[in-house]
Amino acid sequence: MLTPEENETLTRVGPTAPMGRFLRRYWVPALLAEEVPPPGGAPVRCRILGEDLVLFCDQDGHLALLDEHCAHRRASLYYGRNEGVGLRCVYHGWMFDRHGQCIDMPSEPPESAFKEKVRIAAYPAVVQAGVVWAYLGPGEPPPLPAMEWMTLPASHCVVSKHLAECNWFQVLEGAIDSSHISFLHRLSDPAHPKNRFEQLKLGDPHPRFEVAETPYGLAVGARRSVGDDQYWWRITQYLCPYYTLIPPVEEGWIGAFFVAPIDDTATWVFRARYHPEKPQTQNYPTPDRYEPGTYRLARNRDNEYRIDREAQLNGTSYTGIDGIAEQDLMVAETEGVIYDRTLERLGTSDVGIIRCRQYLLHHVAAFLAGATPPNLDPREHRVRPVSMILPRSVPFMEGAREAMRASPGVPVFVVA
Ligand code: FES
Ligand SMILES: [Fe+2]
Repeated sequence: MLTPEENETLTRVGPTAPMGRFLRRYWVPALLAEEVPPPGGAPVRCRILGEDLVLFCDQDGHLALLDEHCAHRRASLYYGRNEGVGLRCVYHGWMFDRHGQCIDMPSEPPESAFKEKVRIAAYPAVVQAGVVWAYLGPGEPPPLPAMEWMTLPASHCVVSKHLAECNWFQVLEGAIDSSHISFLHRLSDPAHPKNRFEQLKLGDPHPRFEVAETPYGLAVGARRSVGDDQYWWRITQYLCPYYTLIPPVEEGWIGAFFVAPIDDTATWVFRARYHPEKPQTQNYPTPDRYEPGTYRLARNRDNEYRIDREAQLNGTSYTGIDGIAEQDLMVAETEGVIYDRTLERLGTSDVGIIRCRQYLLHHVAAFLAGATPPNLDPREHRVRPVSMILPRSVPFMEGAREAMRASPGVPVFVVA
């Protein structure tokens, strides 16, 4: 349970909010690379961290995120003309280059130097690993993140995104919460687990959490009993501020799950599914997962996620909702548009999210007092999530030390 003030701090992402200022010190995943217009092409809308922007690609292929609103009388530059060297507002013809500088003002007399004094916000944007990264903060941006999935051949990693119509932090909490896999994502009857993974997750539905603070964020260990002398550890990595790495299941695919706040009440949920050695073979996710022409899942709150009550009742599906992403979306969105953490009742299985909240509240406060935000050094990003069985006597940070290194030659640790 949090105070109202703490809940505000965690959830508000606008330019003047404490968390909004903190998050602006990091590159934010803003769009998928597939959304980038060609050089000279029409701009695309991009709302991120509560700011309405347009992604503009000039004739030389340089990308920039510009304020969507023209400096003159605020008409939308989304409807503007891309003239190669700049984006021209169609209301009175003012044109802005990729640095946001007004470079033409045909509605003013030719001798006027007014245009030199006029600019709009312009932010750096770069494409890497299938994602458009944006930096909305002050000064020079830090180096780009360098998580393992970002450095793999394109064949080994599939990146996708979908919309969550709720606040960013509750989506992130869902990714860190390893305990819900025994329920929300249950695939079989506990009496007849359909595979080893199901057997482990249903065999002990009340995991104990141990959390270690690391240079990049947190290693969140959830342990479940296996017999009398072993634990099955699922170690989820939290990389400040947007990223989680989800332990692999059967075939060894790792899930990088990261969130980008559109504003206080909506979030892009990005997912990268990868394996350091294996190319992806599945068509994932299939186009029918989305409402046509959008990144909104087809099973969404307007149709109650197409819940099948019959399947829920007869046990063929625990939730009655198809799809892991859809199940996660249902719980995140139904917690409230901005989850009110003054009303909750937390138990022992919530230790992972409690520590994540404490971590962020601490670092936001320290940042406001002048400290440098954590995890800006990409050399710290080479970590993996792990699923492994260890003797009870071995601390997870020791037993999984090698397995958590994202290095060539280190096998992906998966128990299933
Ligand atoms: S509003 Fe854009 S030129 Fe006037
Ligand atoms: Fe989940």
